[in-house]
Amino acid sequence: MTSPERFAALWRSLAPIGNSPHGYHRLSWSYPDLACREWFAEEAADRGLTVETDGNGNLWGWLGDPAAGDAVVTGSHFDSVPGGGGYDGPLGIVSAFLALDVLAERGVRLRRPIGVVAFTEEEGSRFGVACLGSRLLTGALDPERAAALRDRDGVTPVEAMKSGGVEPSLLGPDPLRLGRIGAFVELHIEQGRALTAPVGVASAIWPHGRWRLDFTGTGNHAGTTAMHQRHDPMLTFAHAVLVANKEARLRGGHATVGRVGVEPNATNAIPSRVTAWLDARAPGQSTLDGLVSAIGTRITDRAGRDGTAATIEAESVSPLTEFHTGLRDRIVALLGGAPVLPTGAGHDAGVLAGHVPTAMLFVRNPTGVSHAPEEYATDVDCAAGVEALATVLEELACR
Ligand code: GLV
Ligand code: MN
Ligand code: MN
Repeated sequence: MTSPERFAALWRSLAPIGNSPHGYHRLSWSYPDLACREWFAEEAADRGLTVETDGNGNLWGWLGDPAAGDAVVTGSHFDSVPGGGGYDGPLGIVSAFLALDVLAERGVRLRRPIGVVAFTEEEGSRFGVACLGSRLLTGALDPERAAALRDRDGVTPVEAMKSGGVEPSLLGPDPLRLGRIGAFVELHIEQGRALTAPVGVASAIWPHGRWRLDFTGTGNHAGTTAMHQRHDPMLTFAHAVLVANKEARLRGGHATVGRVGVEPNATNAIPSRVTAWLDARAPGQSTLDGLVSAIGTRITDRAGRDGTAATIEAESVSPLTEFHTGLRDRIVALLGGAPVLPTGAGHDAGVLAGHVPTAMLFVRNPTGVSHAPEEYATDVDCAAGVEALATVLEELACR
């Protein structure tokens, strides 16, 4: 049995890492991420798990021999968005270790190996591609493309891993490792105030993605360039932000521009370039495709009128994920009819779902805030999540 106090005690041992008055900064391979990995190794060792880092930088702890196959794996990610919350990701890892404690107390015998995983760069906040570690593992991302990614300082994933003391032995698909997983279950904080019970089960992940928008124009003097003689990419960008919001509302999708860069970024100069990132999501693929295409068309029209140029390029796109219905129904029954809900947030579970029976458990988020410092779940609900995860692991690995 996990009490809220027990949850809180383990939570407290991880929570300070990478925290600040402006939220969490746990970019992959940064010092806080490395400290989280150390924490993982210690918690795993305390529970008798063997720890390894795979060729893509994902961190694994094993109870039992993974070579036996048909393993039941649970876990999530440590990395955060810049200024993010503490629960998105780490809750699934803390809960995994506590669920193992529950299984030990229940005195159950493992019939299959259990793995705890911390996937690398789920948020894509450093290198731009979401679920980088799980995509590489499953072959969903070309390793050459991954190797060519750069963070904002021009550092590649391989360089970042090396500076973190991890030798990336194999950047790319790892079918042997993937083939040993019989089921994957990710526990995660719910992110949209959609869950009123303490614990829910995921049905699907909306199709979603990120597109890079480049607006180019003519840099010039703010005081001497007549208004009608400007080619100002900031105007095209501003229009794009409004258009994205309007099209999303009209079509029942979500569109966000949360990251922008301006060159030269001077108060008294018309910019020469604006680069922004569009995050777009929708309940169905055709809605998402229609949304992104409408935004693109309207941006191009506007660029023509502004005398600027605009390009839109997909950086990280995920199709609709429908979780394994048999596993989902089994878990719902096991948890006494837990509510089932879809989500607009992406997860490594969505990547794994294309390869192994995969399920997700959600823990209630009373405010619905996520990707922000106020993200929060109560210790009582988190403890309920641990119990639910333990029950699922027992069902899948011990029967
Ligand atoms: C991951 O958190 C996402 O952006 O959906
Ligand atoms: Mn997230
Ligand atoms: Mn997450």
